[in-house]
Amino acid sequence: MKKEYITSSIKETQKIAEEFAKEISKNLPSSKQGIVIGLKGELGGGKTTFTQAFAKTLGVKEKVLSPTFVIFKKFAISPTYAVSHKSDLCKHLCKQNLYHFDCYRIKDSKEILELGFEEIISNPQNIIVIEWADNIKKILPPNTIWINFKFIDTNTRKIMIR
Ligand SMILES: Nc1ncnc2c1ncn2[C@@H]1O[C@H](COP(=O)(O)OP(=O)(O)O)[C@@H](O)[C@H]1O
Ligand SMILES: [Mg+2]
Repeated sequence: MKKEYITSSIKETQKIAEEFAKEISKNLPSSKQGIVIGLKGELGGGKTTFTQAFAKTLGVKEKVLSPTFVIFKKFAISPTYAVSHKSDLCKHLCKQNLYHFDCYRIKDSKEILELGFEEIISNPQNIIVIEWADNIKKILPPNTIWINFKFIDTNTRKIMIR
């Protein structure tokens, strides 16, 4: 899944998120734990923009906002919505939840563990996207998918998936 992109607009970043969501969903049936996606990179890098398009492609109806002030938010993935958007992800995604974490303000991983983090990431029904994931690196599973957002200039970002 190792990939690198240069994007020159929000639209292009959204397109990358969409492709990534489709790729991830192919692997879902075999996962025995939650899928953890760690996003890192400076403010304005595009982490939230990416998460919004990712969520939409998976079939999250609700608008995903920046969760900076709530640490995390849980979203239901609606298979019906995925189907209506001509996505074939439904069969893999029934009963899945998307968790969106923002660890910008987190100083100690303990703060996240206290929110029931281990239970959330061990449930195979869950997909967990974490902004500022490097702040809680030591409690993330070894198979975390890392995505780095690098600010190049006003409209250009480099996105690295590994
Ligand atoms: N190529 C691009 N990809 C993503 N965002 C971009 C791009 N070019 C400009 N932007 C702007 O950068 C900002 C990204 O914000 P956001 O997604 O909230 O970043 P983060 O969550 O990493 O802080 C938005 O204001 C968006 O309009
Ligand atoms: Mg953000």
